[in-house]
Amino acid sequence: MRRHELDTPALILDLDVVEANIAAMAAFFRDRPQKLRPHFKTPKTPEIARRQMEAGAIGITAAKLGEAEVLARAGIGPVLIANQLVGRQKIDRLLALPEHVEIIVAVESLLNVEELEAGAKRTGRRPHVVIEVDTGMHRCGTANPEDTAALAERIAAGPLVYRGIMGYEGHTVLLPDPTDRREKATAALERLSAHVRALRAAGFSPEIVSAGGTGTYDIAGSQPDVTEVQAGSYVFMDGRYRSVRPDLGQPALTLLTTVIARHGDYAVIDAGMKALSNDMGPSAGARLPFTVARLSEEHGTVQTGEADLQPGMKVEVLPSHNDTTINLHSEYYVVRGDEVVDVWPVEGARAYR
Ligand SMILES: Cc1ncc(COP(=O)(O)O)c(C=O)c1O
Repeated sequence: MRRHELDTPALILDLDVVEANIAAMAAFFRDRPQKLRPHFKTPKTPEIARRQMEAGAIGITAAKLGEAEVLARAGIGPVLIANQLVGRQKIDRLLALPEHVEIIVAVESLLNVEELEAGAKRTGRRPHVVIEVDTGMHRCGTANPEDTAALAERIAAGPLVYRGIMGYEGHTVLLPDPTDRREKATAALERLSAHVRALRAAGFSPEIVSAGGTGTYDIAGSQPDVTEVQAGSYVFMDGRYRSVRPDLGQPALTLLTTVIARHGDYAVIDAGMKALSNDMGPSAGARLPFTVARLSEEHGTVQTGEADLQPGMKVEVLPSHNDTTINLHSEYYVVRGDEVVDVWPVEGARAYR
């Protein structure tokens, strides 16, 4: 079957482009001390994670326990859950994961450390942890290096296995001006280094220092204290990252849609917010110059611009934000050129627990 014969809306994944993106990022990390632990929140399928591991990744980063469960079921790891798992239900699930896949989880509070310690006592297993540091994004994480060192000391005294720290400079990854992005990311990474220094001084030198996203992979990946980078979006790229990092990768993912109406200067496609996200602004035509200006539940209203869109045409959209668009779908239609060569389930879609 050819890509334009697919029923719509359908996520189309261009495997040649994916492979090129994986190879380019792997090449950046091949000869440096910093390594790549790509983030699963973008591809959400073990098919991609496996290819990233084969290209030299040291493990996979996950956003949610549900994603780690998908990876562990596929036998892929080690997995760093770059997030807090709070509450007994989560900890029981964490400790029920297969033991042959190493899982490391982030912590930031004494309460959570105590919950994990209680889980360790219940099960006899010893969860591995990194301390999450706030490097300026003001999401989770310890802000004060002395607090980080005190938490490390507390962790090392109990049954948990202390592995290091992570800090994600998410407030800088999408800054459009390269100089501004470099300055702010460098400042964030300098904050991370302050935590590393405090840990070293207290005798808890971190084995893992994880940071970085697609917009800053090269900045974090050149910072001497950083040991690994958690970039995710690079593998497919999307509209927002194409505008911020035009130097990096090609778009591998499009949404095939059908034009269902045309009125004056606008057309309507059969993909609304149940098939395409717009949290990062409007998406655009992948090959034709149009903008998906408005989404209702099942309709996308398109400013046609120069594109002569007519009912019945199938057109591909480059999502502005892949992660949230992919989350709406259950399968990728995998293509090489125009030929559909496979269908992959998006096993990690809606793995938000
Ligand atoms: C904790 C964490 N690490 C890394 C990333 C990297 O993402 P990206 O490659 O999209 O910049 C994200 C993005 O949301 C994140 O939340």
